[in-house]
Amino acid sequence: MKAATALSCLAGGSLAAAGTINPANKIQKRALQTSDPHYPSPWMNPDADGWAEAYAQARDFVSQLTLPEKVNLTTGVGWQGEQCVGQTGAIPRFGLRSLCMHDAPLGIRGSDYNSAFPSGQTAAATWDRGLMYRRGYAMGKEAKGKGINVLLGPVAGPLGRMPAAGRNWEGFAPDPVLTGVGMSETVKGTQDAGVVACAKHFIGNEQENFRQVGEAQGYGHNISETLSSNIDDKTMHELYLWPFADAVRAGVGSVMCSYQQVNNSYGCQNSKLLNDLLKNELGFQGFVMSDWQAQHTGAASAVAGLDMTMPGDTSFNTGLSFWGTNLTLAVLNGTVPAYRVDDMAMRIMASIFKVSKTTDFDPINFSFWTLDTYGPVHWVAKEGYQEINSHVDVREDHGKLIREIAAKGTVLLKNSGALPLQKPKFVAVIGEDAGGNPNGPNGCSDRGCDDGTLAMGWGSGTANFPYLVTPDAALQARAIEDGSRYESILSNYAHDKTDALVSQANVTAIVFVNADSGEGYINVDGNMGDRKNLTLWKNGDDLVKRVSGACSNTIVVIHSTGPVLLTEWYESPNITAILWAGLPGQESGNSIADVLYGDVNPAARSPFTWGKTRESYGADVLYEPNNGNGAPQQDFSEGVFIDYRYFDKQNSSVIYEFGHGLSYTTFEYSNIRVEKSNAGEYKPTTGSTAAAPTFGNFSTDLKDYLFPKEDFSYIYQYIYPYVNTTDAKKASADPHYGQTAEEFLPPHVLDADAQPLLRSSGGNSPGGNRQLYDIMYTITADITNTGAIVGEEVPQLYVSLGGPEDPKVQLRDFDRMRIDPGETKQFTGRLTRRDLSNWDIEVQDWVVSEHKKTAFVGKSSRKLDLKIELP
Ligand code: BGC
Ligand code: BGC
Repeated sequence: MKAATALSCLAGGSLAAAGTINPANKIQKRALQTSDPHYPSPWMNPDADGWAEAYAQARDFVSQLTLPEKVNLTTGVGWQGEQCVGQTGAIPRFGLRSLCMHDAPLGIRGSDYNSAFPSGQTAAATWDRGLMYRRGYAMGKEAKGKGINVLLGPVAGPLGRMPAAGRNWEGFAPDPVLTGVGMSETVKGTQDAGVVACAKHFIGNEQENFRQVGEAQGYGHNISETLSSNIDDKTMHELYLWPFADAVRAGVGSVMCSYQQVNNSYGCQNSKLLNDLLKNELGFQGFVMSDWQAQHTGAASAVAGLDMTMPGDTSFNTGLSFWGTNLTLAVLNGTVPAYRVDDMAMRIMASIFKVSKTTDFDPINFSFWTLDTYGPVHWVAKEGYQEINSHVDVREDHGKLIREIAAKGTVLLKNSGALPLQKPKFVAVIGEDAGGNPNGPNGCSDRGCDDGTLAMGWGSGTANFPYLVTPDAALQARAIEDGSRYESILSNYAHDKTDALVSQANVTAIVFVNADSGEGYINVDGNMGDRKNLTLWKNGDDLVKRVSGACSNTIVVIHSTGPVLLTEWYESPNITAILWAGLPGQESGNSIADVLYGDVNPAARSPFTWGKTRESYGADVLYEPNNGNGAPQQDFSEGVFIDYRYFDKQNSSVIYEFGHGLSYTTFEYSNIRVEKSNAGEYKPTTGSTAAAPTFGNFSTDLKDYLFPKEDFSYIYQYIYPYVNTTDAKKASADPHYGQTAEEFLPPHVLDADAQPLLRSSGGNSPGGNRQLYDIMYTITADITNTGAIVGEEVPQLYVSLGGPEDPKVQLRDFDRMRIDPGETKQFTGRLTRRDLSNWDIEVQDWVVSEHKKTAFVGKSSRKLDLKIELP
């Protein structure tokens, strides 16, 4: 970013109203999608369900603050200014230490004596709400023990539009309901443990390529603006916004806005997304924080609904900020209404009070920047030498839970009777993916390599392993116990030795293969976050074919960040079982051994479809800019038809469908019934908000905002709320300083009077109109374990909404049930009004269409033997 752009703190930049069109760009092929302006930015509702007490506490706190103190809450101190990946300014006068925002969605990033949990995607594969909650709770507890205030997860963006997208594993599944459950359970778990959760990345953050200009330029792409995800209103509501609504409904304290643009307006200054969808419609009462360097303007982002900028500097280590000093100035000169900064402070403090109850936090006892015990607290400034890492062991007995989640999240895709293993005579384990990384489990920074067994992807969504039980270690231990012979070849390329080993008599060959992906700032073997292809890495297909060519009992275990193409070999009769073990975390080997040997009877279900070709998925990653040097344009023209919805629409055959997974026992489904509830008519919300409240007074004299003269030591590159001169233009470092809101911001940004409530909004109830969550129908079915051993089954409830534009079926509810052999249990699934509605773009609300609606219960999205019409 050039200095001039970086410093235009108060200038509008690309506002929500206007598509960003670079005039120099001659290849303007089409009119770009735009995003409507929605102002003013909604202020908090202090009476919102679940928030009233927190808002009362926040009001007491915020009312006492000066303007700079409020600004301090909203603005990060700058990259590497403190110990966490992001921190805000402190308010020493009231004993509030700097708030710590820290990664990530599967455990604590970059620290020690923490646990490495299974990925979100693997947790989704359990289809087990209780496990998802316990995972969130355990991660929250660990974060709290390190002094973290906001844990930067869970992830619903990416949702998983494209199977090759780099960060799908951080989230849950390309299905809004399964992801919504993952979001809701993780948020509740994390926050019950006393740490604020952060639903990210809001929204349309479906690929890594072109998510940031600098990153893309580094990869040789000459673009000047980030990718624009072009999403229509109906698709937004029925697919991408859905799981965020669940997170808001679960009380999530923060939401992270995304790097890329949506409809040609940046995620962190898009008033349609932040003001209208998130705050007006969903009634979100917490705060919106920017992704790291995703803020591009000062006043414009403030009035569009951003509440906290992270890490606070314009770009890493500039020492300058769009907010900090400039937010103070913007309030003083009237470009940003004072109530907006009050609202930011209120939202931040209410989230903290809601979740932590107190401001007496545990100390931050680690440093993201080093594992050393002593070092500078202010990392980039090299100031404040002291103990910065106390190596606090926060793991408790989470290893057991991790083992359980990964085992229960392992999908048995194929089994022709080879499994479970019963004291096999000779076990031969083949493949690099069964062994360790020669440089240790944490040998690559942010796991940016694919060496040894794959137990998490790469990027900011990683944690350091406290240990990593490899499949080789666990399976060997098991073999010794059983008196089996055991040999492993931990290479994909030892062809002759492999042939010789697996062609011996009595071999049970277990081949481990993988496919990795991650975040865009790391390029692993030409995969810039997003995968280049959907094939196995390191000649995995050849390895599988080689082993199964020589051994008639070949079991394949896949660790991956999403689907891979099994097309060439899955039907081979020599391949007697295939398992997808996802990204299992630290107990990898134990978890897979539990499943292979039947200590855990598998019941996981694939959280995505296994297609035969890459093309069969429809939507794909955009790898080459398609708009000259302007923002690459990615049209989500398939609408809601991603993953199974797309395959079903195309009537195309797949290898394993969404929801597929086998067990070592068998189940039969019978007797579907439906019961209609008395939900009553849908009542659109009416009425209006209160006028914008303000809290406390502030001086309008710039002199009062000069850097303090006493008891103050300036830290290099730190972002402050003060001015260094009473010449506002100089203090702002903004060449455009002096424009007023009216001159460059859209109408209504300053409005402070009562605003009408959206009919689709929830009044006091976060998550949208509360009647959307009324139960309309209860569907039951009988599930019988017809096999000889106890097992778990995941009955899935789908609906057809019946319209010509509707997917054939859509998942709406599910359960994971333990059933004894011979026993019959009743499955109960519920259909809410939202489950049966479409988003009507004219009415701007959810509407149940006239079309005939049908409910289905079955074992997967394509095994729906029971069906019943809804009366
Ligand atoms: C990622 C976020 C992450 C943040 C802080 C960004 O690059 O997109 O997911 O929370 O960095 O590490
Ligand atoms: C995949 C690449 C990957 C490579 C790593 C190849 O088979 O196609 O995407 O980078 O394996 O070895």
